[in-house]
Amino acid sequence: MAGRHIRDMIAAYGQRDDLKFRRAAQAIIQEEEAKKHTVLARELRSALAANAGVGASEHAPALEPPLDRDSSLPLARVEYPQRYLSDLVLDRSVAASLERLAHEVRNWPALDAAGLPRRNRLLLSGPPGCGKTSAVSGIAHELGRPLVTARVEGLISSYLGETAANLSNLFDFASTGSYVLFLDEFDSLGKMRGDTSDHGELRRVVNAVLQQIDTYSGPSLIVAATNHSQILDSALWRRFDSVIELGLPDSRQVSALLGRLLPNNGASLARHYVEELVGLPHAATEYFAVSAKRHALLEGRKRIGDTDINFALTETISRRWL
Ligand SMILES: Nc1ncnc2c1ncn2[C@@H]1O[C@H](COP(=O)(O)OP(=O)(O)O)[C@@H](O)[C@H]1O
Ligand SMILES: [Mg+2]
Repeated sequence: MAGRHIRDMIAAYGQRDDLKFRRAAQAIIQEEEAKKHTVLARELRSALAANAGVGASEHAPALEPPLDRDSSLPLARVEYPQRYLSDLVLDRSVAASLERLAHEVRNWPALDAAGLPRRNRLLLSGPPGCGKTSAVSGIAHELGRPLVTARVEGLISSYLGETAANLSNLFDFASTGSYVLFLDEFDSLGKMRGDTSDHGELRRVVNAVLQQIDTYSGPSLIVAATNHSQILDSALWRRFDSVIELGLPDSRQVSALLGRLLPNNGASLARHYVEELVGLPHAATEYFAVSAKRHALLEGRKRIGDTDINFALTETISRRWL
């Protein structure tokens, strides 16, 4: 590790300069990555990300997202997620795309310096419960950035003029710092766009959202999520410079999830039922594992048994997931 960066970190500590500290730490991580010390680099990055919220709450003013003027409710929620991308069970290619994007965002300064355009607009699509919210949380955590989540529907006020104001306030907010701005339930916009009724004004508002996304050039990463890829017409897709699809888990992924969520004996019992969980989202397997653990605990058993597994399976498949 270059002594220069360590000196910077010590100086940053003395000055209580969180940003300077993080920059020096990032520089060390990048050097370790360049030396192919990937395990160490990863550990350092995780350690840095785990402290993202601490620095922000101690040294920076709390982030206050803008309010909806009509309801006085905040237009977005600010969080410091603690989950890693590697905590998720994903297709190898999807995991690689997400990691690559995080790597790219970390290296925006280098892209800027080389005159190469940044990719800062990501669309995540896929059925509910397959990890869209978890993936965006993982990206924010790995980048050490606050996650600013806005439900698109919550931006659309019954007063159309207010909607436009909400949008520009939200995007202005996203220009005040390096955040991950997450536009959840983005398809509600698609639905409105598909409306053929005389909603000329509404269409103008929708176009305003799209334009905000198109022209955004601030320091935040914008991520939108949709459950319904089919209702996003091509004009919507084109707004994004990366589109990542998170699909239902296959049997290998269900097994991997069970292995992570259940103790060994529970996981081996549950393996016989993998096929029953295939076709349902990751959230269903998670629900199944929690249900089996809860059932065993409430029945006073230390180890998960067949009764718990059967109970959990019935409970899981009788629910509606998609
Ligand atoms: N790929 C995944 N790997 C591990 N857990 C997952 C995955 N996808 C979803 N889950 C679990 O299912 C639940 C719902 O996931 P979420 O990210 O909210 O899905 P979505 O936003 O796509 O509806 C979460 O509790 C999460 O832990
Ligand atoms: Mg979600």
